[in-house]
Amino acid sequence: MSPLIDDELPEAEERRYRVHLCFGPNCTERGSRVLMPVLEQAVQEAGLGDSVEILATTCRNRCDEGPSMNVYPGPTFYNRIDAEAIRAIVAEHLQGGHICSAHLYRPRIEKRQRW
Ligand code: FES
Repeated sequence: MSPLIDDELPEAEERRYRVHLCFGPNCTERGSRVLMPVLEQAVQEAGLGDSVEILATTCRNRCDEGPSMNVYPGPTFYNRIDAEAIRAIVAEHLQGGHICSAHLYRPRIEKRQRW
């Protein structure tokens, strides 16, 4: 599944989001329990409590890049998130309707050894 691009995001009045914050073993060790109340507070402070559903989920299969968070519809994958990233994602994506590219998941490309 590929992430959505900005052009595909719905108009503001149609937006309804689900946010999945990973509570798998790796992301939990990297701070998901601390990030969940930050996410809940940021959504409330943005006035989005009625349009954003937040769920703690199992592993999102991006353990090396955790903590991981998915936003639906999409999904849009966010990784290596911290409290600052969560506030930015809430403001830019959930409130503003634009993917927060600064925290978008970008798989590492392994360098091939030259022979
Ligand atoms: S534990 Fe979070 S992506 Fe695997």
